[in-house]
Amino acid sequence: MLYHIVTFGCQMNVHESEKIAFILENKGYSVTDKREDADVIVFNTCAIREGAEDRFFGNVGALKRLKKANPNLIIAVCGCATQKADTAEYIKKTFPFVDIVIGTFNLAKLGDYIDQAKNKRVFEQWQEGDLDETQSYLRTSGDNAWVNIMQGCNNFCTYCIVPYVRGREKSRKPENILNEIRQIVKEGKYKKITLLGQNVNSYGKDLCPQMTFTELLQEISKIDGDFQITFMTSHPKDITDELIKEIAFNPKMIKSLHLPAQSGNNRILKLMNRNYTREKYLQIIEKVKALVPNIVLTSDFIVGFPTETEEEFLDTMDLVKQVKFSSIFAFMYSPREGTVAAKMEGQVPDEVKHDRVNRLLKLEKQIQKEEK
Ligand code: SAH
Ligand code: SF4
Ligand code: F3S
Repeated sequence: MLYHIVTFGCQMNVHESEKIAFILENKGYSVTDKREDADVIVFNTCAIREGAEDRFFGNVGALKRLKKANPNLIIAVCGCATQKADTAEYIKKTFPFVDIVIGTFNLAKLGDYIDQAKNKRVFEQWQEGDLDETQSYLRTSGDNAWVNIMQGCNNFCTYCIVPYVRGREKSRKPENILNEIRQIVKEGKYKKITLLGQNVNSYGKDLCPQMTFTELLQEISKIDGDFQITFMTSHPKDITDELIKEIAFNPKMIKSLHLPAQSGNNRILKLMNRNYTREKYLQIIEKVKALVPNIVLTSDFIVGFPTETEEEFLDTMDLVKQVKFSSIFAFMYSPREGTVAAKMEGQVPDEVKHDRVNRLLKLEKQIQKEEK
């Protein structure tokens, strides 16, 4: 009995696919990299941009022929896209050969759903769920071990679907995180621990007693062993001096920081509900560069946010020039149903978005060449 997993989206999904693999191996399945040979195929989906959803629809459609060839094949779709009721409904109607459609909060029950799917199609999207503390993963990322420290997001950036599909912020208890990392370090295979959360700076605010993200990093560093620590992603609005110092002076911390700026223009940042200004962002970068001169800085940008003018886009170009990031991700704004920005007037035409994203990426390449 063989399984095949297709993962879309961010590191969070990559890590959750390691959970899916654990669940399936526990049920006696072994992995195959050929979909044609699989008895169970799982699509772990992403909803962040329209393109991410379209890609997976195309992929799922192509499974029809495999199901015809092997009627016992079980096809499951989970993740952020199928947490949304409209997408779940669309898959149910459009792809009758899909057996299981579940959301982000039901993932731990995938094993049961596979049993049920032998008799009937399964559709379930819970609206919230407890943190999964089973710590059962089949780690597949080489010498990097992902460790989830929190789930959800409270920020509601106006363009973003994540708060709607991942729920509110919930921090894992520090003792559970520390135990998991002790175990990982004991295994001796992992040199890098990457802590995961949509906004790791918010870690611990919901715990009793509260704990800061920096305090968590300090506790993790006390674990004996030869490993390095990094994290994704932090939000500029609440990055602290303590955190910057921790990256600078803690020898276990990898000297890199992914700090999504999204835009270099204050009006757009406000419309995005990012809660910082261009000046505040640059101030943080200055502090980081001063304390950690060899830091690897990376960022995310969105171009063509509703009403973004050419001049405002040039502010983004200018910010990228000023900071000289090691690398950036540049995305064309993609309206996500249910978010505030999707309803805004002044949506920017696609060709303008294409032009801006190309110019931004060209600038990035130029900077990389100069900095070499
Ligand atoms: N929680 C992380 C980001 C998660 S999404 C953070 O806040 O940093 C990863 C990136 O996708 C975001 O930084 C943003 O640049 C981009 N993104 C999110 N929603 C988008 C949308 N609707 N259109 C285009 N890009 C988007
Ligand atoms: Fe989305 Fe903003 Fe939360 Fe990041 S911080 S996941 S961009 S709402
Ligand atoms: Fe990640 Fe995509 Fe979900 S970016 S949190 S998998 S919407």
